[in-house]
Amino acid sequence: MNQPLVLGIETSCDETAVGIVRGRTLLANVIASSVEEHARFGGVVPEIASRAHLEAMAPTIKKALKDANVSLKDIDAVAVTAGPGLVGALLVGVGSAAGLAIGLDKPIYAVNHLAAHVSVDYLTHDQPLEPTIALLVSGGHSSLLQVNDITSSITKLGQTIDDAAGEAFDKIARVIKLGFPGGPAIDAMAQQGNEKAIEFPRGLTTSNDWQNRPFDFSFSGLKTAVARYLESTPDYIKQDVAASFQESIVDVLMLKALAACKESGIDSLVIAGGVAANSRLRAVAMARCEKAGIRLRIPSPALCTDNGAMVASLGALMAAAHAKASPVAFDADSSLPVTTVSLS
Ligand code: KG4
Ligand code: ZN
Repeated sequence: MNQPLVLGIETSCDETAVGIVRGRTLLANVIASSVEEHARFGGVVPEIASRAHLEAMAPTIKKALKDANVSLKDIDAVAVTAGPGLVGALLVGVGSAAGLAIGLDKPIYAVNHLAAHVSVDYLTHDQPLEPTIALLVSGGHSSLLQVNDITSSITKLGQTIDDAAGEAFDKIARVIKLGFPGGPAIDAMAQQGNEKAIEFPRGLTTSNDWQNRPFDFSFSGLKTAVARYLESTPDYIKQDVAASFQESIVDVLMLKALAACKESGIDSLVIAGGVAANSRLRAVAMARCEKAGIRLRIPSPALCTDNGAMVASLGALMAAAHAKASPVAFDADSSLPVTTVSLS
């Protein structure tokens, strides 16, 4: 199966997403989001997400098949996010994917959402990228990974010890009243601000931290610093707060990602996950990687945030590598570690 036709289902959070790929070619990427139903609560409400997944699943699969111009019987394998994520939300995707795999009598790949974020880059670039360092920055996770083989061997170099990067964006956006999700709103507002206006702290970058936890992140001190600044500066300029806050995050992410490349001797970096859509992160990453002689890959912004193409991509890579398929009866795992690429 060199060019397997794989349908991928993603329901770990508030997006019901279905992607179809043939090998490394993207054929369809359909996303139904329930974000508007959560916005008034300022965050994703699990019960609302699960219900929305149930309602959206069949139409989203149908639309993806139509966009890809294939029919269900053409599918060679089904892939689905098995975790990490909201368990009730994951279960809707897992149940649907298992039903499809049984009905079609095709293999199923129960894959890791975080590994899938990284694997989506394989739809854009032909050259194999392993081994590579991966900076994975989303709403629930911020980690530095060493990817030796995307289908089977990922090691974790470090992770956030408190908030995820995307979570920090969402929290600060809430305090400066930019709505939910906060990342895209801060990104847009920061473009009109001065990133040097306020000197916010850079988490875990003292010489002691570089010694003891060089590849871990912390964003809670930054969050407190922003809150203090807002309290003490009633006439603050929103644009400058957004730009300076964003700069602190981007600076630390890139400092640590490049340090991981240097320490491991790996000259390739992939940045993945929702925060990788951030325009400032993309620009700073490009400039600093060029300077450091690191090959940089960042998926297009639409493929950075949650989608079904990334799940299909990882499933297709697993099928092409003749990886063992998952048993059809498996449990969703809300805290599946990134080192477990798939359930077998
Ligand atoms: O990967 P993702 O879609 O879902 C999770 O797996 O968590 O990431 C969502 C996160 C949210 O916190 C959102 O605010 C953030 O990614 N995000 C951004 C941008 N677009 C999405 N953060 C900064 N700048 C952006 N342009
Ligand atoms: Zn995600």
